Amino acid sequence: MPDTALTDARTSPPAVWSVLEHLKGDELIAWRIADVPNRPSAEERKLTEAYPFGWYALCYSDELAVGEVKPLRYFGREMVVWRGQDGQARVLDAYCRHLGAHLGYGGRVNGNDIECPFHAWQYDETGAVTAIPYARTIPPQAKRADCIRSWQVVERNGFVSIWYHPNNAPPKWEIESYPEVGSANWTSYKKSEWRVFNSLRNMHDNGVDGAHFLYIHRTAQYPDSEVTFEGPIWNATARAKLGTPRGLVDGAIISRNLGPGLGCVRFQGISETLLVSAITPIGPDELHVRFAFTQPMSEAEGPTGGLARALVRDICKQLDQDKVVWDRMRYEDQPLMCDGDGPVPAARSRFDLFMADEAFDAAQGKTRTIRTKPKV
Ligand code: FES
Ligand SMILES: [Fe+2]
Repeated sequence: MPDTALTDARTSPPAVWSVLEHLKGDELIAWRIADVPNRPSAEERKLTEAYPFGWYALCYSDELAVGEVKPLRYFGREMVVWRGQDGQARVLDAYCRHLGAHLGYGGRVNGNDIECPFHAWQYDETGAVTAIPYARTIPPQAKRADCIRSWQVVERNGFVSIWYHPNNAPPKWEIESYPEVGSANWTSYKKSEWRVFNSLRNMHDNGVDGAHFLYIHRTAQYPDSEVTFEGPIWNATARAKLGTPRGLVDGAIISRNLGPGLGCVRFQGISETLLVSAITPIGPDELHVRFAFTQPMSEAEGPTGGLARALVRDICKQLDQDKVVWDRMRYEDQPLMCDGDGPVPAARSRFDLFMADEAFDAAQGKTRTIRTKPKV
């Protein structure tokens, strides 16, 4: 089937080439985070379901200095993150319960607490008011935790992340540490980001959609993959011939996701690479996607450096290609599937676990493995 042009994953033009071929350098970077105007509403595209529970990255650790305050918008709400003098990052909803000022614009760090810019009320990480400099007493309700809603923060793998649960239930799993991140033998992160105008559910489906690799990414083959779902974990190994300047090489792509928001992918074959991915909903039809790459110093520098950089560019190009479709597609709740498709229904059932506590709790300890073989 594939003609010779398709044996090189780097260069053959996919269907979306008409959109991407003129985007280069800064223009491409700007396109990745630009608004997509005139898109149909989230309702029309069936993208309005609640946000799934899980851990989500809000910012990179090295983008929040001690004493720094940043406004954030995620999960359709305004939030504020700050780093106290003790070095710890903290996150609250953004609006002050006094008269509604936004703590992220003009608020400042006072010790480990955040001080509102309007009348200097101070809040700790539990969202309780700890001081009102001009009042004799703090109102009792203001002294309670979650006077402003607080968010549990964990800083790991170079990201400041929070546990999101619509009903404030405690975390159901922990964030794993990746030994490569911060290792002296691995490079510091090379970062890329996108705004994708779609839902987590549709991006999640994409992970098992083997057929799209042929047409959107123009890979040489339909990947031969094995996916295992176990509690919040998604482990997938895909093997495929990868196009390189030296011809085809046997490659392996090993993905491990924990919940809907955080995951990693290890690439083997061309140039060893760890991709740490973080996807955080901004609103019902908008996601913030961050890809952070690290590679062994021994491969990223010297004669193999060009290949290492090309692999990172190629992975980002794949996201660009998907984005062209994702930004405009809708959710098909009753999709018409064919025998060549990957296990999309199984992936959807797995995603459902992050929408309901009962379903998630009932699935603990159960493992499901699915193998996909190319049909063509
Ligand atoms: S609005 Fe925040 S202290 Fe008054
Ligand atoms: Fe894709």
